[in-house]
Amino acid sequence: INKIILDTDPGIDDAMAILFAQAHPAIELKAITTVYGNATIDNATHNALFLKQKYGFSADVAKGAAKPIVRPPVGPTVVVHGETGFGDVHAPKALTAQADPRPAYQYIIDAVNAEPGEITLVAVGPLTNLALALEAEPEIVSLVKEVVVMGGAFGVNGHRGNVTPYAEANIHDDPHAADKVFTASWPVVVIGLDVTEESFFTREYLDQLRDDAGEVGQFIWDISRYYLKFYSEKVGLEGCHVHDPSAIAYVIDPTLFTLREGPIRVVTDGPAEGHTMQKYDGRKYLHDDWQDNAHQRIGVA
Ligand code: BDR
Ligand code: CA
Repeated sequence: INKIILDTDPGIDDAMAILFAQAHPAIELKAITTVYGNATIDNATHNALFLKQKYGFSADVAKGAAKPIVRPPVGPTVVVHGETGFGDVHAPKALTAQADPRPAYQYIIDAVNAEPGEITLVAVGPLTNLALALEAEPEIVSLVKEVVVMGGAFGVNGHRGNVTPYAEANIHDDPHAADKVFTASWPVVVIGLDVTEESFFTREYLDQLRDDAGEVGQFIWDISRYYLKFYSEKVGLEGCHVHDPSAIAYVIDPTLFTLREGPIRVVTDGPAEGHTMQKYDGRKYLHDDWQDNAHQRIGVA
């Protein structure tokens, strides 16, 4: 069984990832740590608490960062995920479920110290909380089992970006945090658009989920109406890519994915701000400070 902390900005596909992780017997969802991104930090946290309460999760919820570590915030992606993050579905204002008193980064530090080598951090939003945890306690690099990130785009199969021609949303939202997380010496697997844009939920598949997967299937169908409208009108696709649930799928069965090893860096400013790159040719360049020390891998298929 894989013990995970899911760091997330719910978010429609984030909700799919949370429900997937919670339902799968190969995963023990220990906690949901929240971050701004698809929604404001307050809405993202409220949405996570709403899911916890609605489905009776035992997972803790800890509230995370409200903004990136260096760059100015870009604001919630209302056009993709709706005003409060779950499309046309709005969580009730008053909830009984409550967040852990600790900020997300501290929750992460405490959890990995309590169970060294046991916990996988799965990050499917901007990487701010992970960067803050690294900053506060760099030793966590040797206490975490693995870091699995949904984010970035490495040009494999032509995928380079979704919010700019050269950047994916999660990395673009906090490029400095992402570079910190990718260059720390812990094992990192990055599942980017290279894989997630090759994977697709059709309208028919979501209808089937509504009909066959009980109340949870109905809920996923409900929140995905807004998402499908965005995909249809702005992307020109009848269905949606499978971003965040792909990171959970990797934890459940890594053999589904083909990986490529090599150090990863992020462009932190300029026109390619948030662009992710991997050095994978093993060559020694004249000016080469890319650290080859860590186990850094990206999904290519
Ligand atoms: C990522 O950005 C968000 O909109 C999604 O939740 C996903 O994590 C895809 O680029
Ligand atoms: Ca997300």
